[in-house]
Amino acid sequence: MEIVRSVAEAQQLARTWREAGLSVGLVPTMGYLHEGHESLIDAARAACDRVLVSVFVNPIQFGPTEDLGSYPRDLERDATICAAHGADAVFHPTGDDMYPAGFSTYVSVEGLTETLCGASRPGHFRGVCTVVTKLFNIVRPHRAFFGQKDAQQLAVIKRMVADLNMDVQVVGCPIVREPDGLAKSSRNTYLSAQERQAALVLSRAIRAAEQTVRAGERDAARVRAILEEEIASEPLAYLDYAQVVDGLTMEPVDTIGQTALVALAVRIGETRLIDNFIFEEGQSCS
Ligand code: PAJ
Repeated sequence: MEIVRSVAEAQQLARTWREAGLSVGLVPTMGYLHEGHESLIDAARAACDRVLVSVFVNPIQFGPTEDLGSYPRDLERDATICAAHGADAVFHPTGDDMYPAGFSTYVSVEGLTETLCGASRPGHFRGVCTVVTKLFNIVRPHRAFFGQKDAQQLAVIKRMVADLNMDVQVVGCPIVREPDGLAKSSRNTYLSAQERQAALVLSRAIRAAEQTVRAGERDAARVRAILEEEIASEPLAYLDYAQVVDGLTMEPVDTIGQTALVALAVRIGETRLIDNFIFEEGQSCS
């Protein structure tokens, strides 16, 4: 497996693959890989001839008071994981190569970036959409793989790809959880033992909300109340948002319709964690 460190090399490598008639899968990540990322690499491996995993802690998607400096990094470990899951290359560019002096072009998706994490983290999705567009332009993948763990990010990227006629198929993959329910996240490494225990409140709340919706509840206020009560029961948890939004527009709904996203962001100490479930009428699992 190759490790490619410059934009020019990554572009060249992907071009070689495409010219050989091979299908290319891209898995964009910020590294410190866990089983959630691994599931995306596995999905890409199953669907594409060549798989490139990008590992880049994208500075422009972090707010000024967020964890850019402390975000966990371990390229050697990441490369071992990528190789074990059959990736063909890891792309690990520098910040200067991605954002050279004079960089001035950003991609902003309107509307559906204004709720949920977009409201709590101004500028976040502009940073995500810009880097993902750059990765798409560098690699020009046939398919790109994203997790439903970041459900709003997935919806925003699908919107961007449709709106800007990007020639890439966006594939969404299910949330991977720890055996006790906590959604896997690179940020789980920030949690103390006590906080790790407290963090279970997110998946507990999501599960309770999901059961209620699957049992027929369609009143969004009642579903929100279930989330809020569960979070309030954990003294170490501070609620950022508990929302029920339309699955496509990300706009809050009063009544759950065909498709909805039930989403939660909670701070446990200094660590902000998210969890969700996507409801689709007629489907029995999320
Ligand atoms: P990162 O947080 O590293 O996540 C990379 C991909 O892994 C995302 O598509 C995310 O949804 C997925 N993922 C994370 N945890 C998961 C889990 N428990 N189950 C399934 N998938 C999971 O998301 C980003 O990086 C960045 O915003 C990025 C898209 C790379 C742009 O910088």
